[in-house]
Amino acid sequence: MNNDIERIIYSKQQIDQRVQELADELNHDYAGKKNVVVVAVLTGAIMFATDLYKKLDLYAHIDFVDVSSYQGGTSSTGSVKLLHDLKNDIAGKDVIICEDIVDTGRTLKFLTDLLKDRGANSIKICSIFDKPAGRAVDVSADYVGFDVPNEFLVGYGLDYQGLYRNLPYIGVLKPEVYKRNS
Ligand code: PRP
Ligand code: MN
Ligand code: MG
Repeated sequence: MNNDIERIIYSKQQIDQRVQELADELNHDYAGKKNVVVVAVLTGAIMFATDLYKKLDLYAHIDFVDVSSYQGGTSSTGSVKLLHDLKNDIAGKDVIICEDIVDTGRTLKFLTDLLKDRGANSIKICSIFDKPAGRAVDVSADYVGFDVPNEFLVGYGLDYQGLYRNLPYIGVLKPEVYKRNS
């Protein structure tokens, strides 16, 4: 699997360090709050969400929502589907949405609108990666780990056809991998 990677964009060490820095920021900004919920967006956010959550020195719940727009491929389908809802009521909560990447912004637009409708007290977006060049709707993350180039990336939660999420770094796939599958 590692052989399919053309180059690494951010290493495991760089990611680990940045996750700690983001956790430090959140620990500062949410200190004393009693209704914090980390909402992890399945599936891509699982690596980041669990790494970050372990570093939070906060009385915070974690909940999961499954929203999908790419259906495994390399480009957004343009429509976002809610595949699995949160377990708990979000009304009155201070929500930290945890994402692996903001690309077109459609996933997070859909999700922030949904959680606003449900009466969340506050909603902030924390994404380990941001691809500003991909944006199609007006969404910006409040906490960002790294900006990434406008290429199709895999690893640390990001997939190609459901694979490569378990790479501990983020990188670019070799073009022959797409060719093999198209
Ligand atoms: C990917 C990624 C983000 C979203 C970002 O999820 O994990 O959730 O797309 O793209 P956007 O800003 O263009 O909406 P995907 O739909 O591939 O589902 P997955 O997390 O299950 O892989
Ligand atoms: Mn996702
Ligand atoms: Mg995906």
